[in-house]
Amino acid sequence: MVRLVYDGDPGIDDALAIIFAAKCDVLDLEAVTTVAGNVSLEKATKNALRVLGLVGRLDVPVAAGMPHPLVRELVTAEHVHGEDGLGETFLPLPPVQDKCMGAIDLIVGKLLRRPGEVTLVACGPLTNLAEAYVRMPDMGEKVGEVIVMGGAVNVPGNVTPYAEFNVHTDPEAAKIIFESDLPVTLVPLDVTLKTLITSKDIEEIRGADTPVTDFIYRALRYSLNFPGHRRLGGCPIHDVLAVGVAVDRGFVKTKKLYVNVVTDNLVTLGKTLVSENNTGEFEECKTKINVCLDVNAGKFIRFFIETVTSK
Ligand code: BDR
Ligand code: CA
Repeated sequence: MVRLVYDGDPGIDDALAIIFAAKCDVLDLEAVTTVAGNVSLEKATKNALRVLGLVGRLDVPVAAGMPHPLVRELVTAEHVHGEDGLGETFLPLPPVQDKCMGAIDLIVGKLLRRPGEVTLVACGPLTNLAEAYVRMPDMGEKVGEVIVMGGAVNVPGNVTPYAEFNVHTDPEAAKIIFESDLPVTLVPLDVTLKTLITSKDIEEIRGADTPVTDFIYRALRYSLNFPGHRRLGGCPIHDVLAVGVAVDRGFVKTKKLYVNVVTDNLVTLGKTLVSENNTGEFEECKTKINVCLDVNAGKFIRFFIETVTSK
C-alpha cells in the first residue's frame, strides 16, 4: 500500500483525483490538504469534504493550508470549474469534521511520524509544499516521493501560451520545490493533455449508476462543455493522472531533468524550463526531477473508469 497525502484545490479534476485515490485498492489515502488555487481556500476545503462525504470517507482528515500564493495575488478559475468549483453539481456539505490542524502541520507531522513512507501528491499551486519545505529543510530525507501535477515542457501552457495554471498561480513556490533536493516527479501538461475523457467514456461511467458515478458524470459533462476542452475533443483529468503515477509508474515515461521556472518576466511568468545540465538558470537546482514526457493514456483511462465504477 502507498501511504498518500493529497494536496490540492478542488476543482473538478482534484475532486475526481480524491475519489480515485479513495477508491483505489493499492492506495491508503491518509489525508487531504487544501490550498487556494482553482477556487478560494474556503471553497476548496468545503469541496474536499463534500467529495469525501460522497465516497463515504469522512474518516480521512482534511486540513486547510495557504489562502493565497507566497507573494502574488490569487487568481481563481471558476470559469473552468464552475461557481461551486465542482461543475455546478452543488454536492451537499457533510457535517463538518472536528477542527483539525493546519495543512503544513499535518504534512510535517506525517513525514516525521513515518519517515520515507509517505507519498505527497500535489495538484494545486505549490504554496503548502513550499511552506512545509521551508519549515523542514530535511524534508528530502523524510518524504517517500513528491508527485507534482504542473508545468508545460514541450507544449504550450493553459493559462498563458507559456505557463500551466498550478505553476503560474504560485511560481515562487514552484521555484522553491524545483530547486530543492526533494524526490519530485513532475506530471506536466505534456502528458495530462493526452489523457482525455470522452463523451463515450462518461456515458460508460454513468452506466454504473451510483451516487459517485452520477457526480462524476455531471462534473465531467460540465467540464466537457468548457470551450478549451471541446476544442481538445475530450476533457483532461490532470490531477487524476498524478495520482495514477503514485499507483503505477508504468503509465508514464519519464526523463531526469533539471527544472526551473520563470518568476521575473511578466510575459513568460510561470513557464517551466528544463535542462540536462545545472548551469545558468538551473544553477540553484539541487537535483534532477523525473519529468513525465509520455503516457499510455488508453491504459490509464481504462484503469480510472474501472476504479471509479467499482462497487
Ligand atoms: C491544473 O490546474 C487546475 O485547473 C487543475 O485542477 C490542475 O491541477 C491543470 O493545469
Ligand atoms: Ca488542481
